[in-house]
Amino acid sequence: MMAVKVKSREILQMVTAYPLGKSVYDLQKEMGLPSIINLSEIENVFGCSAQVKNHLTHQLDHLFTYPDGSARLLTTKLAEFLNVKSDQLFIGNGSDEIIRLLLRAFLNAGDEAVMAEITFPRYKTNVTIEGGRPVLVPLIDGTHDLDRMLASITEKTKLIFVCNPNNPTGTIVEKKKLEHFIAKVPEHILIVLDEAYYEYATSEEYLQSVTYLKKYSNLVILRTFSKVYGLAGLRIGYGMMDPYIASELNKVKEVFNVNQLAQAAAIVALEDQKFRLECVERNEEGKHLLESELTKMGYPFFHTQANFMMIHTGQPGDIVCRELLKHGLLVKSGAALGYPNAIRVTISSMQDNHYFIKCLKNIEKRNGGVS
Ligand SMILES: Cc1ncc(COP(=O)(O)O)c(C=O)c1O
Repeated sequence: MMAVKVKSREILQMVTAYPLGKSVYDLQKEMGLPSIINLSEIENVFGCSAQVKNHLTHQLDHLFTYPDGSARLLTTKLAEFLNVKSDQLFIGNGSDEIIRLLLRAFLNAGDEAVMAEITFPRYKTNVTIEGGRPVLVPLIDGTHDLDRMLASITEKTKLIFVCNPNNPTGTIVEKKKLEHFIAKVPEHILIVLDEAYYEYATSEEYLQSVTYLKKYSNLVILRTFSKVYGLAGLRIGYGMMDPYIASELNKVKEVFNVNQLAQAAAIVALEDQKFRLECVERNEEGKHLLESELTKMGYPFFHTQANFMMIHTGQPGDIVCRELLKHGLLVKSGAALGYPNAIRVTISSMQDNHYFIKCLKNIEKRNGGVS
């Protein structure tokens, strides 16, 4: 290799690439396992709607054309579905892209962005890349501390992220508290309410935020087709916001940011609400099973309103992960997520959930339980 003379932007010295880890295929080969159940990424283990799959086969003849850069058809359908205006919507290459574009458009170097200390890591990374300063507020029992987040606002604050339900803890903020918070944040500061797991949140305490868009022009709500709709591989998400904010995002996006198959799939996914409801129901069943079994075993966990669960294992998450992998189960160690003695597991089919509990009991027997 020749010595590289070019240098990237100085700010990138403070950024590390997202740790993607080994592929399931490589792990399977390395461990000599016949198969692996992947519960480490938060995906919809039930896949996507059969109607979507069927529809996509008919889309293949159109692959030679560029996608609609304004995603007009999907925007119209979504506007109807959500009861918002089309110009309040922005469609992104995953909600991940919208997070990046919001910062690109609204954060100046030196500005501050307030967020939970343990939350979706892309907020912090993108704020840093744009030359901003992430202001991290510790969670209380896995939940956003909205009072402290309010108190962290300075004259430099430009954005606040609230991840509801929060990744990686799965917790939500109480309705009343969030309502109060939205009302208190000054109008010139963007509130980015990340609702990637919105559809899974069944609690009465979960705020139905869309109606607040009418009253608060600084509110941005992010959702995605990656989770309950099972389209993570196609990369498509959306944001609801004031038309001015959407118009600014349009200035900084790639022209054809959302591919054609993703747009077509999202339209059909929206039409098949039966599939979505079934997934939520199955997730609820799985959640109840895990909660009851873990309680019997004495394993503390955060009460989740999403399709994953953070479980305190009382021993290093890395070790528990390694042991589970020997049984063909891939889960995420809490070590990389701010909880070294925990694991994060995707709620799965009943069969997989039972298997997970069985393996956890097995490990407990050998290593001695929760301390
Ligand atoms: C809280 C949260 N926001 C956003 C995203 C990004 O989702 P998308 O696939 O839409 O980019 C994720 C993905 O895991 C997430 O957990």
